[in-house]
Amino acid sequence: FDVNGFQKDLIDWYQTNKRDLPWRQTQDPYKIWVSEIMLQQTQVDTVIPYFEHFIAKYPTVYDLAHADQQDVLKMWEGLGYYSRARNLQSAVREVVNSYDGNVPDDPKALGSLKGVGPYTKGAILSIAYDQPQPAVDGNVMRVLARVLNADDDIAQPNVKKQFEHIVRAMIASDDPSSFNQGIMELGALICTPKEPMCLFCPVQAYCRGFQAGNEQQLPVKSKA
Ligand code: ADE
Repeated sequence: FDVNGFQKDLIDWYQTNKRDLPWRQTQDPYKIWVSEIMLQQTQVDTVIPYFEHFIAKYPTVYDLAHADQQDVLKMWEGLGYYSRARNLQSAVREVVNSYDGNVPDDPKALGSLKGVGPYTKGAILSIAYDQPQPAVDGNVMRVLARVLNADDDIAQPNVKKQFEHIVRAMIASDDPSSFNQGIMELGALICTPKEPMCLFCPVQAYCRGFQAGNEQQLPVKSKA
């Protein structure tokens, strides 16, 4: 597998074709964090106005840490999954109290904050801090299962761990942010769940699933 070619073609495509999203105007780790929490269970188009209002009202960790929880939950109304907002605020309070207001750039410290799982941790470290860390969610697993023609059941937690290992080996160390966001963007725009647009795919030449004609059958995902 030509990892260097894959990185280059993916990143070049991302730089040219990426959507102009509000959280892509910044590398502020707090703002990246807010965006990634909102994006976890909610579509991009829905998140955009919520993100903008939230950041206008709480532009820094201090603003969110000192805010009234009821006001924060009010800002979240319509996004659902309110535990995300409660966890975010308590984690931000910990950042203020224990880390002098700086979002940790250490994987262990960051990952021990409330609500920051492996995906959110990797997204913050790669996008805000340029660290070559995997950020693997369902969309990334779909893209990788197709590229690698892997029929492992992506519902299995150990399969997610395997994909994280694979990304560690594949990630472009000179631009981990564009690598991770390039895979996310590919999953959103080209390598969609149904009828992926392989003819427009920047990494078609590397895609073993496409070469085998399996792209529509992948990923394998058990219901149970
Ligand atoms: N989904 C999750 N994170 C994202 C990001 N940074 N850009 C676009 N979609 C995303």
